[in-house]
Amino acid sequence: MKKILVTGGLGYIGSHVVVELQTNGFEVIIIDDLSNSSTDVLDGIFDITGVKPIFEKIDLKEKCLVVDFFKKNGDIDGVIHFAASKAVKESVKYPLHYYENNVNSLLHILKALEILKAPKFIFSSSCTVYGQADELPITENAEVKEAESPYGNTKKIGEQIIKDLCSCNDSFAAIVLRYFNPIGAHSSAKIGEIPIGVPQNLIPFVTQTAIGIRKELSIFGNDYPTPDGTCIRDYIHVVDLAKAHVVALKRLFEENKSSNYEVFNIGTGKGSSVLEVIDAFEKVTGKNLNYSFAERRDGDIVSAYADTNKANKILGWIAKFSLQDALTSAWEWEKRLQK
Ligand code: WQD
Repeated sequence: MKKILVTGGLGYIGSHVVVELQTNGFEVIIIDDLSNSSTDVLDGIFDITGVKPIFEKIDLKEKCLVVDFFKKNGDIDGVIHFAASKAVKESVKYPLHYYENNVNSLLHILKALEILKAPKFIFSSSCTVYGQADELPITENAEVKEAESPYGNTKKIGEQIIKDLCSCNDSFAAIVLRYFNPIGAHSSAKIGEIPIGVPQNLIPFVTQTAIGIRKELSIFGNDYPTPDGTCIRDYIHVVDLAKAHVVALKRLFEENKSSNYEVFNIGTGKGSSVLEVIDAFEKVTGKNLNYSFAERRDGDIVSAYADTNKANKILGWIAKFSLQDALTSAWEWEKRLQK
C-alpha cells in the first residue's frame, strides 16, 4: 500500500482528496497547521471511509520540523501539497505573509523531499495563473500572465520552482494541477467548505444567503462583456477535482512517462455566469435567492473556463458531476453545517 503525505489535508479540497485516496487503497498521512481547518474534519473523513488518517500538526514554515518529519517518515511514496493561504483579497493586504507561508512552505517540503529516494509530487495550482486569458477555453499552453494578486503570484512562483527542480533532478517527478473553481461537497455532507468569517467565494455566500445567515448576495458587476453582463467561471464539483488527484498520482507512478514535469487544467470545460449559477441554485433547491447588483470587484477577470482535452486524454480523467449536482451538494452541506 503506497503511503501518501497530504499537506493541508484537513482543508476543503485536501479532505476530499484524502477520502478519494483512501477509497483507492492509498495509506494517507496528513500534515496541517490548523490555521484554516480543524481536527473535526478527521471525524468526517472517518465517517466516510472508516479509516482515520494519521495526522500531525506541523507549521511548514518551520524548516527543521519539516525535515524531522521526513526523517521519521522515509517510507512516503508521494506528496500532494495543498497547504497554503488562498484568500485573494487577504493576499493583497498581507503579501509578505503569503510569500512566507506559500513559498517558504513549498521550499521546505521540496528540500526535505531530497531525503526520499524517488519522490512523486502533486502541486495544487490555480487557473488564476492565466489571469484573463486571450483565448477561451483556456489550454495549458495559454500564457501564464502577470499575477493579479500576491496569492496568484505564489502559485506562479511555486510552479516555476517545481519545474526548475524537475529539470535538474530526473528522479523527482511532479504534476501541477491548475484548478478552476472548486464548489460543492461530498454527497455524505460529512465534509465540505468551512469559510471563516464572511465568505469571499460565490457559492458559500450563495448558500449562506439561502439559509439566512447573509441578508443578500451582492453580484459584483453586471456590466461585463458577457451575455448577461455577469462574470463567467468554470465551476467544478470538488469530488471530480479530488478524483483527478488520484489519477494524477497513479500517472506519477507509471515509469514510461515522457516528462517528469506535467501541467493539467482541471475543470469541467463549461463556463457559467453568476446569474446562471443563481438560476441553477434556485431550481435545484427551490429557494428564492435574495441578491442585488453591486460594483465590480477589483481583480476579477471577465471569463475563464478550461480546455480539458489534455487531462481527458492523458490522465483519462473527465468531470462527471453537473453544476446542478455540485450546487445540490453545496446546499446539503450548508444545511448540515447549520444543524
Ligand atoms: C466567482 C464569481 C465574482 C462572490 C477565486 C480565486 C481562485 C480560486 C477560486 C483559490 C466572480 C462573483 C463572488 C460574491 C459575486 N481560489 N462573486 N459575489 O474569484 O473566480 O476565484 O476563488 O484557489 O484562485 O481567484 O471565485 O467564487 O470568488 O468568484 O458576484 O459575493 O462570483 O465576482 O465573478 P474566483 P469567486
